[in-house]
Amino acid sequence: MKTDLLAAIAAAATLEALDGIRVQALGKQGSITALLKTLGGMSPDERLVQGPRIQGVREAVTTAIAARKAALDRADLDARLARETLDMTLPADAAPQGSVHPVSQVLDEMAEIFADLGFAVATGPEIEDQWHNFTALNMPESHPARAMHDTFYLRAGEGEEAKVLRTHTSPVQIRTMMGQEPPIRIIAPGRVYRSDWDATHTPMFHQIEGLVIDKGITLGHLKWTLETFLKAFFERDDIVLRLRPSYFPFTEPSAEVDVGWTMEKGRRVLGGSEGWMELLGSGMVHPKVIAACGLDPNEWQGFAFGVGVDRLAMLKYGMDDLRPFFEGDARWLKHYGFSA
Ligand code: PHE
Repeated sequence: MKTDLLAAIAAAATLEALDGIRVQALGKQGSITALLKTLGGMSPDERLVQGPRIQGVREAVTTAIAARKAALDRADLDARLARETLDMTLPADAAPQGSVHPVSQVLDEMAEIFADLGFAVATGPEIEDQWHNFTALNMPESHPARAMHDTFYLRAGEGEEAKVLRTHTSPVQIRTMMGQEPPIRIIAPGRVYRSDWDATHTPMFHQIEGLVIDKGITLGHLKWTLETFLKAFFERDDIVLRLRPSYFPFTEPSAEVDVGWTMEKGRRVLGGSEGWMELLGSGMVHPKVIAACGLDPNEWQGFAFGVGVDRLAMLKYGMDDLRPFFEGDARWLKHYGFSA
């Protein structure tokens, strides 16, 4: 019996099979249990001989089961380790790649074109004080243009003047003229804020301000600069500009700049002059603004312009709604070819 049991234990291929053998041998109805029970009916002499023999079988079987169980446990673990192993040499899943946002792309392109024309990049804060955003730009407190801008005001402390989210990039004109000596040639790209919301207006949008301060600057310089920029930006030589008299408190004279368009394959494209589209505001920097910055308007003149970057992006890429620019929907970027 002992030999048979030990052979069966050694041959048990699974933990379940091994446990079956254990029950058969050592369980309540088990063969060894039954043998142990026969000891009660034996004479003391017989018991003295059979007792140790049966106990010996029990011990041998118990030990063999424990050893086999350990071996099967180890094999089980080895199998699991082999099964669940990671192949560290497999290539990793490619992470989705980001792309440059159309606005960033347009800003970069604009900065590059203006850099070629000798313009440096200037910046200013988005949380601006009213003096820089309005007053120094010839918009005193009572000026109706302040209301026109749909300004976001920040809550002010006791006795403090409320700051504003800058409504345009023009305050960077002031900061630049106060911070550096002319001649000045800068562009100032950045976010601006107005309380406005429809297909072509979002409460946050982007402008680029241009400012040139030097001696003997005229509107002719302004027109040439804008024309040169737009030809490069839209990659067309037939860009035509039209300066239309307008009004801004911080320029005199002021001009709205229109760009000509033509129909091409049923689509309106920039170039030629079948019709006109309003593009940006500009003018000669008002002498009062130059003086507010501590410069002598008799010595220094210049021009300034402010253009909506998002609008330029819409024109360049044929987009008709501004709102998706700021909704972060990857499908929209993909539709216009902006995803990697
Ligand atoms: N700041 C003006 C606007 O936001 C644009 C502008 C800039 C006009 C510079 C003239 C000169 O509407």
